[in-house]
Amino acid sequence: MHEFAFKNNELYCERMKVGDIAKRVPTPFYLYSYKTLIDHYRKIKAAFRPVNPLICFSVKSSSNIAVLRAMVKNGAGLDIVSGGELYRARLAGVNPKRVVYAGVGKRCDEITEAIKFGIFFFNVESEEELQEIQRVAKSLGKKVNVAIRINPDVIPKTHSYIATGKGETKFGLDFETVHKIFNSSWRYPNLNLNGLHVHVGSQILDAAPFQAAIHKILDFIKKYHIAVEYFNIGGGLGIMYSIEHPQTARSFAEKILPMLKRSKLKIILEPGRFISGNSGVLITRVLYNKLTPRKKFVIVDGAMNDLIRPSLYEAYHKIVPVAVDGNSSETSEKVDIVGPICESGDFLGKDRLLPHMESGALLAVMGAGAYGFTMSSNYNSRRRGAEVMVIGNKFYVVRKKETYRDLVRGESIPRILK
Ligand code: LLP
Repeated sequence: MHEFAFKNNELYCERMKVGDIAKRVPTPFYLYSYKTLIDHYRKIKAAFRPVNPLICFSVKSSSNIAVLRAMVKNGAGLDIVSGGELYRARLAGVNPKRVVYAGVGKRCDEITEAIKFGIFFFNVESEEELQEIQRVAKSLGKKVNVAIRINPDVIPKTHSYIATGKGETKFGLDFETVHKIFNSSWRYPNLNLNGLHVHVGSQILDAAPFQAAIHKILDFIKKYHIAVEYFNIGGGLGIMYSIEHPQTARSFAEKILPMLKRSKLKIILEPGRFISGNSGVLITRVLYNKLTPRKKFVIVDGAMNDLIRPSLYEAYHKIVPVAVDGNSSETSEKVDIVGPICESGDFLGKDRLLPHMESGALLAVMGAGAYGFTMSSNYNSRRRGAEVMVIGNKFYVVRKKETYRDLVRGESIPRILK
């Protein structure tokens, strides 16, 4: 469920008419619903209440500091993967003891900043990284919590680019190596090897791969008497983009809670998309209609630099007119919705049935709250658009549209070329 709905043929976000926001904010822009974000956070929290987990919202899915602040203010921790995300987390006022830090390539400066800030856990993905964190922790005179990320070698049904729990991916460590690490914990006097971490992939629609991974890891803990207090089961819960039937947070929790409860471990979750996915849409304006002998194109001002998921993963995002005219079904036609970028892969939707959309009309690309703005770029020297958050009957521009000056910030021409 989300807070984008039609009333009298006009799309609303909570109690704001989207068309009214578009009169004040240049398109394309991202529009987030505060209530949807928080509702989804609460859903997951309620579903897992029996194990009272620490829920760390995955910053990479939607990282505007207003979004992070909303999460933090409502009790969430944050899951970060870079110094940049740590910086954002701090601006959002997060409690360091609610921050977990994953990723295969943490740099020395990033590790240093995270230790100084006092984060809760490093999720470590290699032996060399473990040695590096030990070295930095020692030099700072600190002892830090470490969870080893296990690659459970399970195959989730999702796009191969976002399936992380398969043996051949770069993520985590195999069971044998993890066992070896725990047997040589004396080598890491400044590390508290106090957790295990797993993340099997993203946009996973059923509990089976989670169950398989959790089962394998709990067996491993038992078999080798691995002494840890925390188990971070990652993120990855899928959402509905078109015809998927994802499990609800409750049905997902029901399937894995018995195992988690039996383990007596303290549980950490890192959901991203489940919380942010349906909380955001991309609003874009029609520029031109173009009829070719083969196809009809609706050319809009949003493009693959704004939302790359369709181009990169052939992801489906529902696209709807922001204002529906009464006889729209009569004028419906099959169109490709494409952006201005010079690549044939620049599309937001293909073969979609839409009423005729005049130049100037607005479209909403749904389910764009996760990995939308965060994966946007300046390709074709396009300025990234604004991010807007609606709270009730008010909207707030939480990131301004970039200026041309922003585009060249930090660039310079060497004197020799002048
Ligand atoms: N924890 C870790 C260690 C992760 O790598 C990820 C996502 C998450 C949590 C959050 O996963 P979520 O709950 O959002 O599925 N760009 C892709 C998704 C990449 C996911 C990367 N890792 C997309 O647009 O579908």
